[in-house]
Amino acid sequence: MKVNVYPDYETLSQNVADEIIRCVRNKPDAVLCLAAGDTPRLTYETLTARATKEGIDFSHCTFVGLDEWVGVPLDNEGSCSWFLQRHIFTPLSLSRSQIHLFDAMASDLENECNKMNEIISGKGGIDLMLVGIGMNGHIGFNEPGALIDSYAHVIDLDNTTRTVGQKYFRQQMSLTRGITLGLKHLMEARQVILIASGERKAEIIKHTLRGPVTTKVPATVVRNHPNSMIMLDEAAARWVKGLTRG
Ligand code: GLP
Repeated sequence: MKVNVYPDYETLSQNVADEIIRCVRNKPDAVLCLAAGDTPRLTYETLTARATKEGIDFSHCTFVGLDEWVGVPLDNEGSCSWFLQRHIFTPLSLSRSQIHLFDAMASDLENECNKMNEIISGKGGIDLMLVGIGMNGHIGFNEPGALIDSYAHVIDLDNTTRTVGQKYFRQQMSLTRGITLGLKHLMEARQVILIASGERKAEIIKHTLRGPVTTKVPATVVRNHPNSMIMLDEAAARWVKGLTRG
């Protein structure tokens, strides 16, 4: 695991975009799993602008969804799917066949999980997984106590996630369950990047980097991944001493 700290959100985002571009240049048919959420917003803006300007070809890549709120339609502006569509898929002009997302409205969610597991294994696994971190240390919707050997699954969201998750929605939502890739997907991905920005993430980042590795704080398992990077801005790294500045 490497930890890189950047002076601000803009520099962090540029460097995360660089990593995604490097991955796709090395492997044009890469399988990418890119998180939704506020943190990677500028990364995607940078990425898609550079893709246009520098002619970076994403047309052979496959994109798989990380997570989704159960019961929220894909076209709801607060859904992860809508976010990815708006900030990545449309700007990159991807074709439908390149994109595989959870349908969190499906009546058979178990089947959604199985389909996603098969797509990922059929493509030979995930090349790059870019994840954010929840205020409770979750990764995707792998909540505290998640199983280390889990693939895609449906879970009950914990109270922190239910509350914090409201920020993505215009109207009050009942956010009770999530569907997510598992920690085994994370550990099997060829490269993992965890990003965090802002002082509100400083406390959980301290636990993630300095606390024991435990699924009680799912983000800590990133430390055991052989090719992982934790990329932070100064504000998120505030309570961790002794980190090298990038
Ligand atoms: C959300 C999502 C995660 C996301 C994380 C951080 O609830 N389930 O996939 O990475 O929490 O989100 P944000 O970047 O908005 O802080």
